[in-house]
Amino acid sequence: MINNSEKFYDRLTFLYPIIDFFLKPQKHKFFSRINSCPYGRLLEIGVGNGTHFNYYNTHEIIGIDTSRSMLASARKHLKGNIRLLHMSGENLLFQNKTFDYVILSHVIAVVEDPEKLLEEVYRVLKPNGKVFILNHFTPNNWLKYLDKTFESLSRLFYFKSVFHISSLRKLEKFKLLEEFNAGLFSYFKILIYEKSL
Ligand SMILES: C[S@@+](CC[C@H](N)C(=O)[O-])C[C@H]1O[C@@H](n2cnc3c(N)ncnc32)[C@H](O)[C@@H]1O
Repeated sequence: MINNSEKFYDRLTFLYPIIDFFLKPQKHKFFSRINSCPYGRLLEIGVGNGTHFNYYNTHEIIGIDTSRSMLASARKHLKGNIRLLHMSGENLLFQNKTFDYVILSHVIAVVEDPEKLLEEVYRVLKPNGKVFILNHFTPNNWLKYLDKTFESLSRLFYFKSVFHISSLRKLEKFKLLEEFNAGLFSYFKILIYEKSL
């Protein structure tokens, strides 16, 4: 059965290129870092419309999304090393320890249950596998007031505007390797974690 978030992203597909335009510089930084890692099996959760696929130049990639419309759009940008599947990141149909890398680009504050997502990510990662997160996190500066103002509105758009790293308890199972700003007053961050043994 299609849930409301899926319906929302199905409808957003045609507008997503506008959002994507503003996210381009940070995605360039993010995917360059991912490309610099040794070749491996990579799972991207919530691939969206796939316009970033041209950034990938290494790895064997599986992209998943719950929105069929986003997946249809992503198919137009497919390259040889990428396969797409309709699947939820909160209920991954992969065996334990399948992937070297998991990518979460603007998806962790969108899924219904981020803790369930991280539990699944942990399960499918190989030992020493890495998870790359690109997302907004509510900083301790004036931007926190903006996030607070939009909190109730953001629920209508199926994302959490007030979002703190410290709220993600499941991240404690991982080891933080790198954290850097992806632009705009430390609002967008790139975080790289490793599955500890
Ligand atoms: C904000 S968009 C981000 C798209 C892309 N990753 C990007 O960085 O531009 C969030 C995407 O996650 C998808 N999504 C939402 N919940 C999901 C879930 N539980 N599992 C997989 N994908 C999900 C949505 O359909 C949408 O395509």
